[in-house]
Amino acid sequence: MSAIQASSVQATYERMKVLLHNVVPDVELQIKAELVYEINRLKIEKNAIILGHNYMEPALFHTIPDFVGDSLALSRMAAQTDKDIIVFCGVEFMAETAKILNPNKTVLIPAPSVGCSLASSITAQDVRDLKAQFPGVPVVTYINTYADVKAECDICCTSGNAVAVVESLGSDTIIFIPDEYLAKNVAQETGKRIIIPSMQKNGATSNIQLTEPGTYDFIGWHGRCEVHEKFTVQDIQAVRAQFPLVEILAHPECSPEVVSASDFSGSTTAMIRRVETSQAPQFLLLTECAMGDNIIAANPDKEMLRLCSVRCPHMNQITLEDTLDALRFNRYEVTVPEDIRIRAARSVERMIAIG
Ligand code: 13P
Ligand code: SF4
Repeated sequence: MSAIQASSVQATYERMKVLLHNVVPDVELQIKAELVYEINRLKIEKNAIILGHNYMEPALFHTIPDFVGDSLALSRMAAQTDKDIIVFCGVEFMAETAKILNPNKTVLIPAPSVGCSLASSITAQDVRDLKAQFPGVPVVTYINTYADVKAECDICCTSGNAVAVVESLGSDTIIFIPDEYLAKNVAQETGKRIIIPSMQKNGATSNIQLTEPGTYDFIGWHGRCEVHEKFTVQDIQAVRAQFPLVEILAHPECSPEVVSASDFSGSTTAMIRRVETSQAPQFLLLTECAMGDNIIAANPDKEMLRLCSVRCPHMNQITLEDTLDALRFNRYEVTVPEDIRIRAARSVERMIAIG
């Protein structure tokens, strides 16, 4: 996939019509074509690259990013680019990862505080407390964390490579933070027993309370994705009762019960690939629902069911309007203190080296 390169607003609109006619009404395409044309023109003028996460809305996803993908693919792309400016259409921890890998480039995110419930579920001090309780145990952090947390860890992982990262460590015991459900799903896949300790504050430091001392290999954390935790086994049963042949795909940030009741689980890109290759008559994605629209735009022959009352309020902050302003006004610049960046880069680069 690549951004629309057209010589005029009209030509941009014509191209958008081909790409998006089955998901975006014409009246909207006409308005958005002006934004898309101007963004793609400015991007070349400023020697910028736009990276877009799979959750971006279709009129953005299919028109302005030079590269789209899941967190892993976008990290890899961020590590390779030779452009001066990276505009990250995603959430802050993703843009921060691009900055960690590119200290000499300008990294912009189109909205000023684009959070993530997983990234805000753990602090660098929490990780130091965990390490003090389990000295010498390697720490894997999901990429959905901020730079200061990555700096305390040994290696990052994404939903696309978590099993490979865990297996690369060859360690009997692993601290895996901060997503409780991803940790449980990976533990299940790698045959590990997991415990989610509770923390008790004793003044400045914390004590870990183990509910089952001695019977664990994975030490998790209690972070949850505010989107994926909402899907339930009852949702799955209700949809299957109505559409018996539906194929249900769950992101591994869903609970292990939901993942087990689904037909497939994988990263956002793995889910897209699965829909593209499966012959099922209908699909239901248990993830941010913009992704269903993006798949349908590219695969009009597929039928997609949607549970769109569950949305990511953070990803949805990124718009074409704000992306244009990001390029026009060089905002909002992502910065990471150099001492933290250097230590966080070790965790990210070690993950990328795994392949
Ligand atoms: P992916 O790495 O699978 O794209 O997931 C990122 C994310 O934030 C899912 O909620
Ligand atoms: Fe974070 Fe969940 Fe939104 Fe992904 S969907 S960015 S994990 S809050």
